[in-house]
Amino acid sequence: MSKVKKIAVLTSGGDSQGMNAAIYSVVRYGLEQGLEVCGVTGGYQGLIDGNIRTMKAMDVDDIIHRGGTVLKTSRCPEMKTEEGQRKAFETLKANKIDGLVVIGGDGSFQGAKALATKFGMLTMGIPGTIDNDLAYTDYTLGFDSAVNAVMSTIKMLRDTMTANNRSCVVEVMGRNCGDIALYAGMTSGAEIILVPEVRFSMSEVLERLQHNIDHGKYDNIIVLAEGAGSAVQMTKDIKQAMDINIRSMVVGHLQRGGDASFSDRLLGIRMGRNAVKGLIEGRSSCVVGVRDSNIILEDIVVALSKRKSFNYGLYELATKLVKTY
Ligand code: ADP
Ligand code: F6P
Repeated sequence: MSKVKKIAVLTSGGDSQGMNAAIYSVVRYGLEQGLEVCGVTGGYQGLIDGNIRTMKAMDVDDIIHRGGTVLKTSRCPEMKTEEGQRKAFETLKANKIDGLVVIGGDGSFQGAKALATKFGMLTMGIPGTIDNDLAYTDYTLGFDSAVNAVMSTIKMLRDTMTANNRSCVVEVMGRNCGDIALYAGMTSGAEIILVPEVRFSMSEVLERLQHNIDHGKYDNIIVLAEGAGSAVQMTKDIKQAMDINIRSMVVGHLQRGGDASFSDRLLGIRMGRNAVKGLIEGRSSCVVGVRDSNIILEDIVVALSKRKSFNYGLYELATKLVKTY
C-alpha cells in the first residue's frame, strides 16, 4: 500500500504550452487513483504564502489545449533562500501533502531539489519550458508549440519581406539554448541561423547576405537566438556595414502563448500521469522526461548535473541546405 494519500501540483518559472495538459493529467489521474489532489496558485510564491486548494475533476475541465497555466506562475527569489524553502515546506506539512509535482524549468527543479534533499519531501519534476534546455530529456513541454508559433510568424513575415525585397532579423527566445532558433529556423528555410552554441562573426553574416543579394536573393531571414544577440542591434550593425533593405522583429512572448500543439498536449498528459505514478510508488526526488519517445524518470540531482548537448549535425545540415544561391 502506498503511503501517498495527498499530493499537490504547482507551475513555476516561465509558463509554457502543455503545462495545463500536465495539470489536467496530474489531477485526473491522481483522483482516479484515489488520491486527494491540491493545486498551488502562483508557483513557489503561492507555496510560501499558503495559496493551496483542493482540486476536483471539474477544476481542470476544458484546459488541455490552453497555453499559460490555470495555476498561475511566478518567479520567486525567496524560494532560493533557506527561509523561503522552510516556509514552502511548512505549507506542505500543514496541509498534509505527501508528494509535490513541480512543473517548470531547471530553476524550478532547483526548488524541488531543495525541498527533497533538505526536508525529505517526495517531489516529482515535469519539464515545462519552451527553451528545451534540459539535458536529461529529449523535449520539454512547450518547445514544440513555441517552434510552431515561430514557424507561423516567419511564414507571415516572408510574404511581406519578399514583396518588398527586404531581409529581416528575427529574434526568438530560448535563454542560452539555441534549439528554438535551430528547429524553427531550419523548418522555415531561414537563410541564416545564429545560436549561442555556434560561434559566428559579423563579417560571416555580412558576406553571406552580400553573396545572396548578388545572386538576386533579397528576402533573407536571419533567425537569431536571444542568447546569441539582439535583433535590433544586429539590424543596426548590418545597416551600417552594407547597403541593404532590412528590418528587425522580436517574436517575444507570442511564442509562449496560444494553444498547445498535439505533441505538447500528449507529452503533458503522459508526463503528468507518470509523475503521479512515481509519487505513488514512492520514487523520491525524480524528474520525468522523454527519451526516444519513452517516458522516463531520473533522479533530480543526476538530471540537473547533465550538460545539454546541441545538435550540431542538424545545424550543419540547415546551413548546407540554404547555401544554394
Ligand atoms: P525556470 O524554472 O523556467 O528555469 P527560473 O530559473 O526563473 O525559471 O526559476 C523559477 C523559480 O524557481 C525561481 O523564481 C525560484 O523561485 C525557483 N528557483 C530557481 N533557482 C532556485 C534555486 N537555486 N534554489 C531554489 N529555488 C530556485
Ligand atoms: O524560460 C522561458 C523564457 O520564455 C525564455 O525563453 C525567456 O528568456 C524568458 O523566459 C523570458 O522571461 P519573461 O517572461 O520573464 O520575460
